[in-house]
Amino acid sequence: MSNTLFRTKKIEQSIQDTEEPEHALKKSLSALDLTVFGVGVIIGTGIFVLTGTVAKNNAGPAVALAFVVAGVVCALAALCYAEFASTVPVAGSAYTFSYASLGELPAWIIGWDLVLEFALGTAVVAVGWSGYIASLLDNAGWQLPAALSGREGADGFGFDILAAALVLVLTAILVVGTKLSARVTAVVVAVKVTVVLVVIIAGAFFVKSDNYDPFVPKAKPVDAGGGLDSPLIQLMFGWAPSNFGVMGVFTAASVVFFAFIGFDVVATAAEETRNPQRDMPRGILGSLIICTTLYVAVSVVVTGMQHYSKLSVDAPLADAFKATGHPWFAGFISFGAAVGLTTVCMILLLGQTRVFFAMSRDGLLPRLFSHVHPRFRTPHRPTILLGVIIAIVAGFTSLSELAELVNIGTLFAFVVVAIGVIILRRTRPELPRAFRTPLVPLLPVVSVLASLWLMLNLPAETWLRFGIWMALGFLVYFLYGRSHSRLGRDQKATAGRPTTPPGKDAP
Ligand code: ALA
Repeated sequence: MSNTLFRTKKIEQSIQDTEEPEHALKKSLSALDLTVFGVGVIIGTGIFVLTGTVAKNNAGPAVALAFVVAGVVCALAALCYAEFASTVPVAGSAYTFSYASLGELPAWIIGWDLVLEFALGTAVVAVGWSGYIASLLDNAGWQLPAALSGREGADGFGFDILAAALVLVLTAILVVGTKLSARVTAVVVAVKVTVVLVVIIAGAFFVKSDNYDPFVPKAKPVDAGGGLDSPLIQLMFGWAPSNFGVMGVFTAASVVFFAFIGFDVVATAAEETRNPQRDMPRGILGSLIICTTLYVAVSVVVTGMQHYSKLSVDAPLADAFKATGHPWFAGFISFGAAVGLTTVCMILLLGQTRVFFAMSRDGLLPRLFSHVHPRFRTPHRPTILLGVIIAIVAGFTSLSELAELVNIGTLFAFVVVAIGVIILRRTRPELPRAFRTPLVPLLPVVSVLASLWLMLNLPAETWLRFGIWMALGFLVYFLYGRSHSRLGRDQKATAGRPTTPPGKDAP
């Protein structure tokens, strides 16, 4: 049994699968496209919305340090991702990587986990987007009825119609083709980066040094009864749950981590990249470095413009300008944020459908989802199915808890990828690797520990939800995936014939 659960897919087989015409995606992306993709998906709700929330509730001005902590954790993971992505250039990201190194069950777990990450991530960003649009409409004197503007304002029934509509429109764009969406993305990314630079440069003139005092506010006990809301690490060690202080910086880091999600999506586009061996590492690391620098600068400026306790939690960047008496800047920033969040949403949706596609191509999910559209050459079926589900989720659910659930899923994927790098170096040392993670196994081990540390700083409640999702995943695998696995069937078919010597890729 363990033999089948840990059967691995040959890397050559993974690459060959992508060349079958009815399952082949178009190879059209360059390193620049990938970097634009990366920046397009990375800068989003994290910096535009969560900065204010965590500065106010967890870290004060030290939210800038939280971004550094989260950025370092991501950089470590990125160095592992880059080796995998440049060795196994096949759609599906960590899922594909772990199928080639750890085996089918771990690959299934990670794929299931990534579906959660991208689907809920898309929903979170769509809801953030709808908030900014609502605020722009409000400036113009228009207001949607409470029941159609989301959950918070409504008594009883509430459906965020803007968020749902955004997801459906983006779904249609993705069905028509990646190239179109990459072009749209490039324009929108330019708008978003301009807005972020305006915040940094214009905002720097309104910074008051008093607002940085204290830079790391003293730890404050959390009201009794927090229970499952508290970070798991505090419960595990029986510490009195607290906010701010040094631990507050780590709690903040585990939340603003959301702001970095997306560089792993660049890896999911490997199969559609012209020269993945060279361009993947450039795309992943390039976009990560640009974003970390911008985040630290934005959070230093914003917490300098307004005392952290007064920051808004809905639109902190725009409202900091309102607070200093510059509403025109605020309107411009809100507009740019709304435009920028569109690409984030679209690329998360893209990553999500590609993972689903790869899992279906391997037979772990029904194969009908892995046929590409005859004309557009996109995986239209999973795109439409998941687009509709996510639109419904985005319409009905609320933001912050979902963001934490997305984070735990992503961090878990980082852990698996880092372990995968070590294993693959041992089992397939001869494979050409365009990019090699430095200091193996030390760096991947540090990456695993760093990701686990952030996971432990997430609320116990988030762990519980994640556990439920994963348990559901096990059920689907044992009831469907294991018996329908293409790899399992191929192996059965060749069972009678003479095979390669045992040990390497032929379990
Ligand atoms: N990193 C993306 C964001 O901040 C998901 O919205």
